[in-house]
Amino acid sequence: MAEVATVRDSLMRFYLTTAIDYVNSRPHLGTAYEKITADVIARYKRLSGIETHFLMGNDEHSQNVYKRALERKMDPRAYCDQMEQEFRTVWTQLDISFDDFIRTTEPRHKAAVQKLAQRCFDKGDIYEGQYEGWYCVSCEAFKQEKDLVDGKCPLHPALTPEWIREKNYFFRLSRYREPLLEHFKANPGFLRPENRRNEMLRLLESGLEDISVSRAGQLWGIPLPFAPDNVVYVWFDALINYAAAVGYGSDEARFAQWWPADLHIVGKDITRFHTVVWPAMLMSAGLALPAQVFGHGWVNFGGQRMSKSLGTSLDPSDVAARFGPDPLRLYLVKEISYGGDGDFTWERYEERYNVDLANNLGNLVSRLSAMAEKFRASRLSPAGSGGRLAQVAEAALSRYRTSMDALALHEGVAAAFQIVDAGNEFIAETAPWSLAKKGEAGRLDEVLFEVAEAVRVAAVLLRPVMPASSAEILQRVGESTAPEALRLDRDGRWRAEGVRQIAKGAALWPRVEEATETGRAGSAERTRREEITVEDKPAAAPAEPARITIDEFMKVELRVAKVLEAEAVPKSKKLLKLTVDTGADQRTIVAGIAEAYQPEQLVGRTIVIVANLQPAKLMGVESNGMVLAASPEGGLPMLVAVDPSIPPGARVR
Ligand code: MSP
Repeated sequence: MAEVATVRDSLMRFYLTTAIDYVNSRPHLGTAYEKITADVIARYKRLSGIETHFLMGNDEHSQNVYKRALERKMDPRAYCDQMEQEFRTVWTQLDISFDDFIRTTEPRHKAAVQKLAQRCFDKGDIYEGQYEGWYCVSCEAFKQEKDLVDGKCPLHPALTPEWIREKNYFFRLSRYREPLLEHFKANPGFLRPENRRNEMLRLLESGLEDISVSRAGQLWGIPLPFAPDNVVYVWFDALINYAAAVGYGSDEARFAQWWPADLHIVGKDITRFHTVVWPAMLMSAGLALPAQVFGHGWVNFGGQRMSKSLGTSLDPSDVAARFGPDPLRLYLVKEISYGGDGDFTWERYEERYNVDLANNLGNLVSRLSAMAEKFRASRLSPAGSGGRLAQVAEAALSRYRTSMDALALHEGVAAAFQIVDAGNEFIAETAPWSLAKKGEAGRLDEVLFEVAEAVRVAAVLLRPVMPASSAEILQRVGESTAPEALRLDRDGRWRAEGVRQIAKGAALWPRVEEATETGRAGSAERTRREEITVEDKPAAAPAEPARITIDEFMKVELRVAKVLEAEAVPKSKKLLKLTVDTGADQRTIVAGIAEAYQPEQLVGRTIVIVANLQPAKLMGVESNGMVLAASPEGGLPMLVAVDPSIPPGARVR
């Protein structure tokens, strides 16, 4: 995915923005998704040593905001002040690290809007005319007859669009069709992802009409400087926030320092405003265009569009209250391919929490600290230059960088998790406890240090997506650099030196039991979920089992086998269908290891099976044998390791 290198990148400066939110209701998970992903980008840029300016804000001059204030019998400005606090509280809960927060009722914004509108007017791009047509108040957009479905806006079918007939000022958008097309063609990275770029190119090719940029007879808005009886249309007003926040119309030196923006992060529904209307306004005002606009996809809730009125809205504070902000941030970034649509369900969320955090990353950190304490009094000395994990970490860093630079955030985080996966596998294979038993002190030192270093590198890479957890893990593995001072170039690399003081702590993410209730529908259900028990109790000591004779043991035919194929069993969370070579035949074995291994990780692996088990049907698939695996307490099953040089068919005894 080649991206345009921006001028700012080369200057080691990056100006990043999100859409500014309408404040007629609180943030929902969809709006929060945008802010979280932008925050991941901002934090990644900072981690990369780039001076970053991350802007967010509120869009206040909407008629819906005005109406909501009146419904609450509040002065609109006072209502917006109150909503600002609500938004800021949610963004703080989600650990969003914005550098500036702009409101469109601020004087600096008004100055910028009036300056830019005047520039367009002076250029001859704003003229007076008569507007007649439909207007959707929820979209705050004029609609053409062809855009309506059964006379309703498809995005807001509960609302009847208003027929508007008024004197308006128009912006000559049509004049910019050719320059915009040229800009798109000369800058393939201007709009990402590719499918949205193609969509916008088609729209440009089909022609552009002038747009209304004022509303007559309204009080809530910024007066047009050349016709103060009219207020500026809310979109023309809102887009200018990006320039206003860095000083356009109020601090020209600062504006020169930060403009143009490097990246606007916006939802797919508003990419047209950002890649057609906004650049045309900038061209008209003689200002540089942003380097890139990224149109992210939609997050649904249980397959449905999030909507307050339909009761399908989800409050991000409720989700963050479940396990804290980091598991939510991870879920949204890792589960949704950035640019595409995604879905949130409580079931899926808890499942991913258990798999990625409780069983994988959390388990790795706990195992490391427990082993470090038990075998080396929590002090690990460097030994060796790093073996397999060092190679995995190096490859992961490179994949991480390429993915994050290309805004494939989901692939970036997956790269960091490759290190975590490999760390757990490495522990299973090297079995430090048996090294300790056998007195192989040198190898044990190497193994423990290697695991600690792998955890450290993974935590550095995970810093943008899980800031607080990453800081906690880094502290536990003895990283002394303050989290804000971490640099990918230096700290994301394998470090084969430095004694590590490993700290023990409470389990980072205690596993939650599978929920049995179904049909949870939102925040009202939270209380019930809080009752789900957390598996933190040690299991009761089992009674001493009766001993068996060697003959009894020999009845169990344990054999080495090789995995030829692996695939998920449809509709099963736990089962994988394996085709294995047993030396004597090829057969199907169904194994309950899907939460711990991806099918592709298994192909080619040498495993141990019970070869003489009676066949059994699992989820409709006949299994002819059993794969041997062991689970740490509360953790996922890990395959029993066997030297891969042993050929299939060899008996294990
Ligand atoms: N105020 C305008 C943006 C002006 S930018 C100059 C607006 N506000 S909004 O509150 O409706 O939406 C804010 C952002 O959240 C938009 O980028 C929008 O696409 C995004 N999302 C709204 N619902 C969403 C989902 N369900 N999923 C993902 N993003 C969503 O539009």
